[in-house]
Amino acid sequence: MNEEQRKQQAQINQEANFDRIKNTSSDDMISKYFQTNYEPQSPDIKKARKRRKEDVQFHYDFSIPEDVATVGKGKKFLIRTYGCQMNEHDTEVMAGILTEMGYESTSNTEDADIILLNTCAIRENAENKVFGEIGHLKPLKLEKPDLIIGVCGCMSQEESVVDRILKKHQHIDLIFGTHNIHRLPQLIKEALFGKEMIVEVWSKEGDVIENLPKVRKGKIKAWVNIMYGCDKFCTYCIVPMTRGKERSRRPEDIIQEVRHLVAQGYQEVTLLGQNVNAYGKDFEDIQYGLGDLMNDIHKIDIPRVRFTTSHPRDFDDRLIEVLAQGGNLLDHIHLPVQSGSTEILKKMNRKYSREDYLELVRKIRKAIPNATLTTDIIVGFPNETEEQFEETMTLMEEVGFEAAYTYIYSPREGTPAARKTDDVPEDVKKKRLYRLNELVNKQSAESMRKYDGQTVKVLVEGESKKDPDVLAGYTEKNKLVNFKGPKSSIGKIVEVEITEAKTWSLNGIMVENTVEVN
Ligand code: 5AD
Ligand code: SF4
Repeated sequence: MNEEQRKQQAQINQEANFDRIKNTSSDDMISKYFQTNYEPQSPDIKKARKRRKEDVQFHYDFSIPEDVATVGKGKKFLIRTYGCQMNEHDTEVMAGILTEMGYESTSNTEDADIILLNTCAIRENAENKVFGEIGHLKPLKLEKPDLIIGVCGCMSQEESVVDRILKKHQHIDLIFGTHNIHRLPQLIKEALFGKEMIVEVWSKEGDVIENLPKVRKGKIKAWVNIMYGCDKFCTYCIVPMTRGKERSRRPEDIIQEVRHLVAQGYQEVTLLGQNVNAYGKDFEDIQYGLGDLMNDIHKIDIPRVRFTTSHPRDFDDRLIEVLAQGGNLLDHIHLPVQSGSTEILKKMNRKYSREDYLELVRKIRKAIPNATLTTDIIVGFPNETEEQFEETMTLMEEVGFEAAYTYIYSPREGTPAARKTDDVPEDVKKKRLYRLNELVNKQSAESMRKYDGQTVKVLVEGESKKDPDVLAGYTEKNKLVNFKGPKSSIGKIVEVEITEAKTWSLNGIMVENTVEVN
């Protein structure tokens, strides 16, 4: 196709797009999409559980097809990311692919030629935010018919979401799933030159795609995927359905990526997975788990190594022994507990009791006496009693968590818990969350007070959001520090004397001449 033909085709597409948006939600259209390129699939726990035996395929041959290699030249992209670090990192991959296709990034919606919403399905309010944004984008699409709007991430793995977009939001051009990210070039081509909404959501989930390009958000800290998916099937959680089965990247690929980041000057890596403690359990040829991986990364010359997210059930002695070596393996452990009640944990299918969790905490503290623990907690799980909630409150104190992400239970379609009747009124759940948050704030403030007058090591990330004359960074234990210091310390690890402890952050002054040369 020459330039002239391309323009004509684009014109035809624009008109088709325009008609499509004006005449939204025809059932005929929907059935056509289902037949052509979308096979409806509800999150189905029975099917999901059966998948574990399937082989994992590794693909090392990613490349951008020649016919779309320059399609983005002179055009801009914007990706809006919702949800967890996994999504943040997927956005870095999509940004990498788009950049290789010639697109440049923009933060201005009006300037964008392609807008992708990388969505989160973990709670209902996350989904509501995305539908709000989808609605807001409609006038822009009507104004700019050749704008491509795509929905990807966890929500696109849900049948009900795809149905709703097909029925009510015909201004969306493209829906693709979490297993289809590497297909972005082909999908954009189809969206650019086709007339229909493109839906490609693979339920196949056995693969690991290596060598995908990435444009990372900064030059100081980097995410590194070590595994994908989750086989834990906590009864409240949609993730095993949206992210597929557990599959680990090969150690040599991860280590090579970390070495590459070191060569580029990165100071910190966070190893990422939905349940990193299950790392390596799917290898058939080698016995190699998270402890072994951390041990190998410990030997690499990168100042800081973190990992998230942990599941207490799989947190083994080997990992504790390796973490106890310290050095670049930081002693902040995020260990989601979800509830302090053994009965609720059982209903959540967490596969540990309150006592098991406390025993794990004891083991960690014995091996790593200075370890800082943070957690995730859900309140108002179906039929949670006042006594069971109190057990969460006492566990919070007993462990001495220094921070916690707290949530009200949100029923997710397709999960076992969502089928339960629930006798706990919403306002009771809200009150419980409020009480828990008061305690979390109190414990966080107490943990911060310990630093008053102390000197801490801070990896300086940049200017503070509120005041460009103030710098901001994080301590080894992930405490936010705002301090006065030279801009030349950005990207380096410096010592800061703490002068004021607040509830969620520390203020301080940089100790002269402490810039570590790495
Ligand atoms: N409702 C509320 N919170 C949830 N989480 C996961 N699923 C749900 C749900 N259905 C929380 C858990 C998890 C965190 C990432 O989100 O605490 O650790
Ligand atoms: Fe969801 Fe985490 Fe449980 Fe997996 S381990 S099902 S991601 S809460």
